[in-house]
Amino acid sequence: MLKLGGSIITDKSVPLSFRRDAVVALAGAVSTVAESEPVILVHGGGSFGHHYSVIHDMHTAPARYDLKGFCTVKNSMVHLHHLVLDALYEGGILPYSCPPSILVHSSDVPYTEPAAPGGMARERVLETYTIASSGLCPVVYGDAMWCGNGTSHILSGDAIMTMLAKLLDIRLAIFATDVDGLYTGPDLGQLIRRADAKTAYAMAGSGRGAAPARSDGGSDVTGGMARKVRAAGDISRMGTDVFFVNGNRPHRISDITRGIYEGTLFAGKSRGVEA
Ligand code: IPE
Repeated sequence: MLKLGGSIITDKSVPLSFRRDAVVALAGAVSTVAESEPVILVHGGGSFGHHYSVIHDMHTAPARYDLKGFCTVKNSMVHLHHLVLDALYEGGILPYSCPPSILVHSSDVPYTEPAAPGGMARERVLETYTIASSGLCPVVYGDAMWCGNGTSHILSGDAIMTMLAKLLDIRLAIFATDVDGLYTGPDLGQLIRRADAKTAYAMAGSGRGAAPARSDGGSDVTGGMARKVRAAGDISRMGTDVFFVNGNRPHRISDITRGIYEGTLFAGKSRGVEA
């Protein structure tokens, strides 16, 4: 399971800027992995969804957000998703679009964090595995979600990663961003090679180890790197190895599936790969 973060598929400093070449290159690496095992992709919002979420003051907590703002955020994600699908196809993947609204019961308990499994459409989530095993590659994305009763919220791609990991037996979870991994301090410090869930929660809580501000800045309604690290803690506690790698070096993603990594590993309980 691989999350293509907004910092890698878009230029977060320029509104509505899609990094087509980066996604095509990533698709090339992912397609080699998909030849030997099922791959599920999730992508973030970057300078599309986040750009408009900030403008329209929409957040992850369900509330009665302005409907025009809700539509604008959602439309921007559909637009970005379409661009991602085309670039993945060009790079050698057969993408199968899975809007998150098919994986979550909108009028039920909204899926927020910490995970509320009541909101998940279990059969649909399980089906993503069947689809991934068929030669197609399911692609889910962070989105603006309707939660019924006039309310809506932002569902981050990181929350979707946790949600999928709860129901599927995920071998590896990878977060690709525009930096090499997590660092001991905000000014890049030292790359953290290996950590565990406890460290992840401590880092997410304190903001320590967050990647440089240019990745997520202050204009990120879903909590930037802290949220990704918390998701990594949640997923590694389920027994899955979680990696943070630089998506500008696509081979690092395929290397991980062969047991080699350059980045940060949050080791799952039962598994581990060689550094
Ligand atoms: C955000 O998803 C989706 C919207 C803002 C609508 P993410 O929170 O997963 O996006 P990135 O990866 O941080 O950009």
